[in-house]
Amino acid sequence: MKGVILAGGLATRLRPLTWVTNKHLLPIYNKPMIFYPLESMAKAGIREVLLLSSPDHSGDFANLLKSGEEFGLNIYYGVQENPKGGIANGISYAKEFAENKRIVVILGDNIFNTDLKKAMDKFSRRERGAIVYGVKMATDSKQYGVIEVDEDGKVLSIEEKPEHPKSDIAQTGVYLYDERVFAFIKQLKPSPRGELEVTDLNNLYLREGTLQCELLDWWIDAGTSFDELLRANNLVCEKVKKGEL
Ligand code: G1P
Repeated sequence: MKGVILAGGLATRLRPLTWVTNKHLLPIYNKPMIFYPLESMAKAGIREVLLLSSPDHSGDFANLLKSGEEFGLNIYYGVQENPKGGIANGISYAKEFAENKRIVVILGDNIFNTDLKKAMDKFSRRERGAIVYGVKMATDSKQYGVIEVDEDGKVLSIEEKPEHPKSDIAQTGVYLYDERVFAFIKQLKPSPRGELEVTDLNNLYLREGTLQCELLDWWIDAGTSFDELLRANNLVCEKVKKGEL
C-alpha cells in the first residue's frame, strides 16, 4: 500500500497562527504536527508517502522533511490547488501516485498511537472495499461524522455532524481504500458547504456493503480549534513523559 497525507486547507479557525505558517507545521509539544502522521505511516510499514499541501506551503514541508529518509520514508510532494475542495478532493490528487495500488490516507492534523499494520494486512486479503477508523467519544461525537457499526465491524451508517448521533463512534481522519477510490470520487457532488465530503465517499462503499470500521485507542484532531490544539499539546506531553509515545 501507499500513503497519502492531506496537509492543505486554509486553517481559518487557527488564525492568526496560520496566516503565515501552515497549520500542520505548528508545534505539538516537542515536534511539528506533521511528524505524527508521518510516524504513523512509517510504523505501519508504509514506505512511499505523498504529502499534499497548499500551493504556498509545499516548499516549507520540503525544507523541513526533505526526502523523508529520517522517517524511513520516501516523501513525494504534491499541491492541492483548491484549499476548500474537501478531503475527497484532496485524495483525488493521489491518483497517479497510487499507481493502481491501495492507499492509506491520514489527515495531517490527526494524532494517534494505534498501529495500523494489522488492519492493513487484513484489508489486503479482502477482495475489495474500504476501512474507516473510528474512535469512541465520551461526548461531542456530533461535531464529527458519526459511524454506526454491527458486531462484526461492518458499517451500517455514517452521518456527517448529525443532530441526533446514532452511536458514540466518531469518524477519524484515517482511511484505507481499494484501487477504485478515484473512480468513486468522480461520482461525488459538492456538499452544501462546497466540499467533496469524505463521508459521501465512504457512503459509496457502505452502499455496496464493503465498508468496515476499525477503532483507534485514542485520537486527537489537533487542528480544529485553539482548545484542541492546546489539548493535543498537553496530551502528547503527558504521553511522552509516561513513555507511551
Ligand atoms: C472531517 C469529516 C468528518 C470527520 C472529521 C475528522 O470533518 O468530514 O466526518 O469526523 O473530518 O477530523 P471537518 O473537519 O472537515 O469538518
